[in-house]
Amino acid sequence: MTKKVLAVYFTQSGQLEDIIDRFTAPLTGDNNVVTEKLRIYPEKDFPFPWTSPAFFDAMPESVDGTPAPLKPFEHKEDRYDLIILGYQPWFLSPSIPVSSLLQHPGFLPLLKDTPVVTISGCRNMWINAQEKIKKRLKDAGARLVANVALVDQHNNYASLVTILYWMMTGKKDRKWGIFPKPGVSDEDIAGAAVFGETVKRHLQEGDWETLQPQLAAQKAVNIKYPLMFIERKAGKIFKIWSGIIHKKKNRKAWLVAFKYYLLIALCVAAPVILLVDGIFFKPFLGKRIKKQKAYYAGVELK
Ligand SMILES: Cc1cc2nc3c(=O)[nH]c(=O)nc-3n(C[C@H](O)[C@H](O)[C@H](O)COP(=O)(O)O)c2cc1C
Repeated sequence: MTKKVLAVYFTQSGQLEDIIDRFTAPLTGDNNVVTEKLRIYPEKDFPFPWTSPAFFDAMPESVDGTPAPLKPFEHKEDRYDLIILGYQPWFLSPSIPVSSLLQHPGFLPLLKDTPVVTISGCRNMWINAQEKIKKRLKDAGARLVANVALVDQHNNYASLVTILYWMMTGKKDRKWGIFPKPGVSDEDIAGAAVFGETVKRHLQEGDWETLQPQLAAQKAVNIKYPLMFIERKAGKIFKIWSGIIHKKKNRKAWLVAFKYYLLIALCVAAPVILLVDGIFFKPFLGKRIKKQKAYYAGVELK
């Protein structure tokens, strides 16, 4: 029987569209699958390239999941056998357009009782955002069956420099000809087709149980301890910042304070905390860390 698939995504630079195109290529190339692609747009566009104030201004609403109006969108079917949701984290949360989609009255009925595969393209911190997506999907009655997370595999500090360069200039090239290219590498984007092939097989067999373990074995998700450690702490701290900023009248000044806090936290505090953790705690927490990694690599919601 023909399977109907909807691949829905948002993108600014086009990176996530490239990822979706490669990921769905095995599905679109199959006569037994009809794949519909849907790119969503916010009614009021976020700037790209970004300015620094606009970039940090997106933090509180990203963290809180405050929905923003989307441009009207259409889908051909009322039911799909599979929905592929492409998203990018913003401030360790789903981007505002995607979080708006997951609360949109026109989209929620599609999710009900439908298998969903999530695929993200980000710098390197996605586990918090994925937890929030898991929760939204569960609330909508959807069944998350798989997750693929594509990241910039370069060093955490190099990728911090290069993503800011990319976001502020719109150029996905090598800063000063020295730094690596920002974002998900072309090889990893092309490699998404391998994961798409695995999803297609499971879609045809109607077997979702073994999909995520197989994708994990193919390295569709890769949890690195230091990043997981930082993200778990930072997610809670961002929530506090967003709460403070909402209460303050001089939002702009507080966002500048957050910007410097973030740079110091990432570049100065995080390495020190990781060092202390590496000496005094990590060596004794092997079992717990293994369990946490397995949890974030999976599709269950705690
Ligand atoms: C406002 C903003 C915040 C971001 N925050 C994160 C983040 O918390 N973690 C991360 O790995 N990448 C982060 N990124 C990078 C995005 O996830 C994404 O990779 C990049 O914006 C390219 O996506 P695009 O397909 O929409 O162009 C952020 C980007 C923006 C614009």
